[in-house]
Amino acid sequence: MSALDLSALIRRRQYLRGVTASVLAPALISSLVPRSALAASGKGVTLRFSHVVAEETPKGLAANRFKVLVEQRSGGRIRVLIYPDTQLYGDADEMQALQLGAVDMLAPSLSKFGPIGFPEFEMFDLPFLFGQVADVRRITQGPLGQRLLERLKRHGMIGLGYFDNGFKQMSANRPLLSPADFVGLRMRIQASRVIAAQMRALGAQPVSLPFSETRQALEAGVVDGTENPISNFWTQRMDEVQTDLSLTEHGYLGYAVVVNQRFWLSLSLDDRELLEQALREALAYGNKIADAQNDKALAALRQAGTTRIHVLSEAQRERLRHAVEPVHKALASRIGLSWINAMRDALNQHT
Ligand code: LMR
Repeated sequence: MSALDLSALIRRRQYLRGVTASVLAPALISSLVPRSALAASGKGVTLRFSHVVAEETPKGLAANRFKVLVEQRSGGRIRVLIYPDTQLYGDADEMQALQLGAVDMLAPSLSKFGPIGFPEFEMFDLPFLFGQVADVRRITQGPLGQRLLERLKRHGMIGLGYFDNGFKQMSANRPLLSPADFVGLRMRIQASRVIAAQMRALGAQPVSLPFSETRQALEAGVVDGTENPISNFWTQRMDEVQTDLSLTEHGYLGYAVVVNQRFWLSLSLDDRELLEQALREALAYGNKIADAQNDKALAALRQAGTTRIHVLSEAQRERLRHAVEPVHKALASRIGLSWINAMRDALNQHT
């Protein structure tokens, strides 16, 4: 992204934040009208899709692709309004907003389902569990992935699919190449007990914060470091507040797309099919570009020269892996032993 694009993005974000706080949210909340009548008569449907990251990320681009496909195929009858970058809701309130019907669709990271009562989703956070994204697919594209999505109905959500961002890297104002480098650091994490345990195992203090507050917290020194795939690091301009990014690739970050159950059931079968098909294609597109977006962000970061980038040797990664190994056992009962066993079976299956 050029400097011009970036400053336009920042201006737009600042503007939209103001508008969102004062006008958009109340307007949307007051528009919570029953829509079954509309859908049944083939009239317009509006789907509000909120997420917390920038548009130039795998999630942002997949969401925009979904909008284009849906609006094209429905001839504009189904409108998809995308609210990226925490413009509408953030980590602290988006799940509740979905359950209340104040927004229709979200794509939270899998780590964000633990705190709302689905600790089994935290299996995806286990450090050094997946060697590659193809391993994740053995879970998400199989019966186990489906069973996990089914669970969400208990909270009035329908899970429609999974997609990737990629592998997370560690950042701070120093290189993070061995467990000793983490000692005493306050590391921002998503609210996942598994990730908290991972940071503690490394000697750091985990601090759970919403994604939208992370950059500011780093800048203010409230936290010293964080972890994320590079596309998130770069598009939030965390490079301006972190001197070192260590390519640890220690954990996976992916998403589940969820819709409000009442909204979903209010749609005609044809509309649901159209949305599901468009989403399948948008998620496949997101998966296809995820690596490229992270590579692009890494190249931009190298060019900007703001953050030193450290490539770990296999021996260094191995020492980190060894330090966090106890997390797998310690958190097994939180995730649930039957889920852990099903996960191991899925990972060991030959395709
Ligand atoms: C985070 O909070 O670090 C990520 O989940 C943000 C995202 O949605 O990619």
